[in-house]
Amino acid sequence: KRIVVLVSGDGSNLQALIDSCQQGRVNATLSAVFSNKASAYGLERAQGAGIPAHALDPKAYADRVAFDAALMEEIDAYQPDLVVLAGYMRILSPDFVDRYAGRMLNIHPSLLPKYPGLHTHQKAIDNKDAEHGTSVHFVTQELDGGPVILQAKVPVFEEDTAEDLNERVQTQEHNIYPLVVSWFVDGRLVLRDGQPILDGKTL
Ligand code: GRF
Repeated sequence: KRIVVLVSGDGSNLQALIDSCQQGRVNATLSAVFSNKASAYGLERAQGAGIPAHALDPKAYADRVAFDAALMEEIDAYQPDLVVLAGYMRILSPDFVDRYAGRMLNIHPSLLPKYPGLHTHQKAIDNKDAEHGTSVHFVTQELDGGPVILQAKVPVFEEDTAEDLNERVQTQEHNIYPLVVSWFVDGRLVLRDGQPILDGKTL
């Protein structure tokens, strides 16, 4: 199976996928990595692993629809079975979401449906939540609103900063994201009638 990964930043989740593919825990090829930021460290991680890495500059396009159309064309050249959003910090146009319906995953650093959007770690701290975490979900038209496949929880301690929480959450992300990707590429995970199904059972 072929996977295309989209990043905007550090790419630690991309790295976890690279490692998982190399170790045979994910039975797939990472065909390409795209970023909307040329400076994203994730592009360097891709290059380091011998994966084609491309940056597309949104400023070079008239609007979001034009940018996403260009990105789709470049992605489709790799004929991916799965598109993985790994810290890709751009709103997706409806056409983009439609194109990869049922074969696009995202990871969001909160226990969805709690805290869609930004600054999730600070929100968990401000609300004095006892626990926080991360969610892997299929991407649908609703921002961070697609059906959740797997979550990992972490404790929130009184003295935690957002940075502490981010570190604790990311450690979990690097475990659960490759796991969910492996389910998908092994054909165990599908989206049917808007519901994630794993091994024939509705999640
Ligand atoms: C992750 O915490 C993910 O949940 C969020 O953005 C962060 C990306 O981190 N969507 P990285 O670029 O994979 O290191």
